[in-house]
Amino acid sequence: YRTLRVALLGAGAVGSQVADLLLKHGDELADRAGAKLELAGIAVRNLDAKRDVDLPQELFTTDADTLIVGSDIVIELMGGIEPARTQVLHAIASGADVVTANKALLATHGSEVFEAADQVGAEVYYEAAAAGAIPIIRPLRDSLAGDRVVRIMGIVNGTTNYILDRMDTEGADFADVLAQAQALGYAEADPTADVEGYDAAQKAAILASLAFHTTVPLDAVHREGITSVDAAMIESARHAGYVIKLLAVCERLAAEDGGTESISVRVYPALVERTHPLASVHGANNAVFVQAEAAGDLMFYGAGAGGVQTASAVLGDVVSAARRHIAGGVGVGESTRANLPAVPIGRVITRY
Ligand code: NDP
Ligand code: HSE
Repeated sequence: YRTLRVALLGAGAVGSQVADLLLKHGDELADRAGAKLELAGIAVRNLDAKRDVDLPQELFTTDADTLIVGSDIVIELMGGIEPARTQVLHAIASGADVVTANKALLATHGSEVFEAADQVGAEVYYEAAAAGAIPIIRPLRDSLAGDRVVRIMGIVNGTTNYILDRMDTEGADFADVLAQAQALGYAEADPTADVEGYDAAQKAAILASLAFHTTVPLDAVHREGITSVDAAMIESARHAGYVIKLLAVCERLAAEDGGTESISVRVYPALVERTHPLASVHGANNAVFVQAEAAGDLMFYGAGAGGVQTASAVLGDVVSAARRHIAGGVGVGESTRANLPAVPIGRVITRY
């Protein structure tokens, strides 16, 4: 097999598991990818930080810039906007394909990143950027490309579902259970992103952009988090036959009075009937319901957060990137972009 050089940026909850699986299953992945995937190095901030798994110390560096140069595939798992944005652009300019789980980056600088990739014929893969291990980017982008999605409704943040579920089923304290979600590797580096709904809003913007073939900017997403949800509200909801879930709802709205169609994207804590399938999504799991005109109702369910679970989605993207390299850089192409307006849709509105 030809050898492809893989650079990993970040070895936290997700990155350490990606490195571990890449090293453990290298031969199998080579057979699937048609290329040997050589982990060239792992860029981190702190060389002495404790890792979730044992990894060869000689792979670690604090010099991401140098690691990126000459790499065929760069996996960005640092999170946040900077320096992730600069490093991703550096990777693209250096001729690498990029795999990232960074929804914060894509929801705010997606256009810049995708345009940079288009200019040099590179590809950006991001299956792990929404709903962790659940395959949802490819289904929306590829499998449903011939259909018309009308609605997406889902639980897309594992941390908040874990918190609300533990509060509901055990009467757990919000702060205690948030600390547990952090220890389990579910939460963002700054968990405000989870509990205030920013993370879910970023994912909703990405999913809605793919589903409706347009660009849904982050500031067009109505966002409410779960910090105002307390034990009394959860108890009242239970007595009335409901459970509180943080939902992301993305809808195509019919044209009114001869106008154009519009889109509504919102994230908010909702009362869900206990008999509804979303009510039985427990722990850090996610579920995404997709309604399409021809396909009807589809449901995607599984681990929405967690290091090793998310590593599955990241490595799937790495295999796709490797296959594209081996095919000579042809493959997915521009149709993969979330932000290319294939179908002109009018206003993006934030109706709640
Ligand atoms: P962590 O905070 O656990 O890990 C971040 C890693 O990036 C650490 O190894 C850190 O180094 C490194 N890093 C951070 N800043 C820098 C920098 N300036 N230079 C070099 N290295 C840096 O994050 P996660 O693994 O949880 O998340 C990574 C990405 O995956 C994020 O975009 C997140 O949103 C996304 N994601 C996370 C999921 C999860 O369940 N955790 C699920 C789906 C997506 P050091 O260790 O030395 O501090
Ligand atoms: N912090 C995120 C969550 C990680 O809890 O869902 C997965 O994107």
